[in-house]
Amino acid sequence: MSIEDRKKDHLLFSIRGDVESDIPAMFQDVYLIHDAVPEINLEDIELTTVFLGHEFSAPLIVAGMTGGHSLAKKINAAIAEAVEELGLGMGVGSQRAALLNPKLEETFSIVREKAPTAYIIGNIGASQIVMDLSPGDLEKMIDMVKANALAIHLNPLQEAVQMEGEPFYRGFLDKAREIIENCEIPVIAKETGAGISKEAAEKVVKAGFSAIDVGGLGGTSFSKVEYYRALNNGDKEMAEISKTFSSWGIPTVFSILEVRTVTNLPLIATGGIRSGVDIAKALRLGADLAAVGRPVIQVAFKEGSQGVKKYLKRLIKELRITLFLIGAKNLEELRSKPVVFSPRILNWINQRKLKIPFNYIKV
Ligand SMILES: Cc1cc2nc3c(=O)[nH]c(=O)nc-3n(C[C@H](O)[C@H](O)[C@H](O)COP(=O)(O)O)c2cc1C
Repeated sequence: MSIEDRKKDHLLFSIRGDVESDIPAMFQDVYLIHDAVPEINLEDIELTTVFLGHEFSAPLIVAGMTGGHSLAKKINAAIAEAVEELGLGMGVGSQRAALLNPKLEETFSIVREKAPTAYIIGNIGASQIVMDLSPGDLEKMIDMVKANALAIHLNPLQEAVQMEGEPFYRGFLDKAREIIENCEIPVIAKETGAGISKEAAEKVVKAGFSAIDVGGLGGTSFSKVEYYRALNNGDKEMAEISKTFSSWGIPTVFSILEVRTVTNLPLIATGGIRSGVDIAKALRLGADLAAVGRPVIQVAFKEGSQGVKKYLKRLIKELRITLFLIGAKNLEELRSKPVVFSPRILNWINQRKLKIPFNYIKV
């Protein structure tokens, strides 16, 4: 199957299928404490934030997902228009398809056309940088979207369970180091739904990455996407294997805690962020930005950029209400408010010997 067809498959199965992980991101196990006397007005809440030197109107971006197909171009255009208007940012999907076939470049570059000032994150896979990145490809990818940052996605799980997978990670850290040294923009290490442990975080910190996106378990499950693709192609064995791993990984909440115990690098929380309350909790645990993926392509597919704008605005409104309800005027105050963990989270912290760099309340 061509990369173009595979990209279309990923989009359509994600838009139409039941591909949400069976295991949650665990935000329901984190409690922010309601303040019945917040002593501020809802309209006083200030959400602007600076991430990697860029100012965002709110700590929210759209996760890198697509490109490489005409449908992807439409979806990228809709998302780009919305984030430009709202002062947010977005990632694109893996740019490999356009490196192999320059005709597909426009499915990515449309993003910069529609979003001249928004924060745009380019994207390429770890396996691709191990296997087949040619000289000049790095500059091409950056130039294609005039990227503010480049994400290298880590997806060993997807590569292992995908019919056309390329599970090649040997030598990755050396290649990553080389890329980071030659890259004039920040490089982000980004998981895609199985999370980053403290041990993995230590490796990427040592390699010189500028930021981490935890890409935790609990939202879109790529094993499920691959399960449906394999079934559709009559590959029963790969379907069974994908199903076996559909709950594999580190839930987003645990992954934020893991990463935050070993590094102060700028941190994005992706994976199962479904409300402004989730965003507030992710930030309270140590993330600097939250990113939403699949719900945005669903709404972009059905309702275009107006739908995306409405959806993102709703999340921001919910985030604002959450801050109001805990009496925090801004994101700095949010980070000092009390937080309570369920026994499930405490077990994880204890067994993994995580030294959480902030106070929490045991229940
Ligand atoms: C259709 C689709 C394609 C994706 N493609 C990529 C990709 O090319 N590169 C990447 O880093 N992540 C990719 N992702 C993963 C997302 O960036 C994100 O980590 C994931 O969807 C989890 O967030 P969610 O639960 O909010 O959807 C893709 C996700 C979807 C749904």
